[in-house]
Amino acid sequence: MCVLNRRRFIVFLQFLLLAAKQASGQFNYDQQGRDWAGTCATGRSQSPIRLADNTAIRRPIPRIRFTNYNRALQSPLIMTNNGHTANIVLPPTNNGQRASIQGGLLPGTFEAQSVHFHWGSANSRGSEHLINGQRYDVEMHIVHKNVRYATVAEASLRPDGLAVLGVMLQAVPTLISTHFGLNRILDRLPQVIRDQSSTMIAGQLTMNDLLGRIPTGRFYSYNGSLTTPDCAESVTWTVFSDSVKLPRPQIAKFWDLPDERSLPLINNYRHPQEINGRPIFQRTLI
Ligand SMILES: *[C@@H]1O[C@H](CO)[C@@H](O)[C@H](O)[C@H]1NC(C)=O
Ligand SMILES: [Zn+2]
Repeated sequence: MCVLNRRRFIVFLQFLLLAAKQASGQFNYDQQGRDWAGTCATGRSQSPIRLADNTAIRRPIPRIRFTNYNRALQSPLIMTNNGHTANIVLPPTNNGQRASIQGGLLPGTFEAQSVHFHWGSANSRGSEHLINGQRYDVEMHIVHKNVRYATVAEASLRPDGLAVLGVMLQAVPTLISTHFGLNRILDRLPQVIRDQSSTMIAGQLTMNDLLGRIPTGRFYSYNGSLTTPDCAESVTWTVFSDSVKLPRPQIAKFWDLPDERSLPLINNYRHPQEINGRPIFQRTLI
């Protein structure tokens, strides 16, 4: 009895420790998120999910409208290894306004806040969403906040708070792909090979440079969550069907980053979540 209680108590302490770690941003991808607590475990509208042409509802959805995506971002543009990903905090553009998006199935106007990536390893792919059963090499997330809310933290408490654009990156064997914007960012990855280290991305970059030349007319959209703890269900997802092609040696630079335990930061993607009856929309080309 006493032993049983002690064991229970220890399990309880371990649970508290895990909850505290996740609350303070300490989590890892050892089990692709299966061990994350709170909304991550109990939520019914979680991300990522499997996207597929044969299960999506095809609709003549409006295009995404991009504002200030063609304007240079203010300097400095800083990329940080935060122990979970390479994260870039987006400044306003050179006219003082933020890059923003509307249209699609977005419930309002959303301003670009940050960009980060999910990747695999030398022998595995690492996108979070799967498209028609395929996992891509890397998935880029451009996180936007509804202009109605003051901060990302506040927005993440609202169902219409955040909008994330998902862009699949695909490694190609040769150097035929010269993706100006993303290559400039990937070139700087060796400068963040310490946990919590930062680097400056020099020169002028626009949000369009990051998007590359993918056709933005084809996408999936659904209501979901952040894919890292606390997995808040506050995200309208727009995942583009077309992928950006990048030289494999550039993609490989992600695999050298360490996590906050100084272990290799690889396979930093969450396993696919249950759809639970949510409608998944797909934009048809009119
Ligand atoms: C998201 O949920 C809201 C509220 O239920 C709904 O009005 C909207 O159509 C949903 N959007 C998508 C993309 O499913
Ligand atoms: Zn992400």
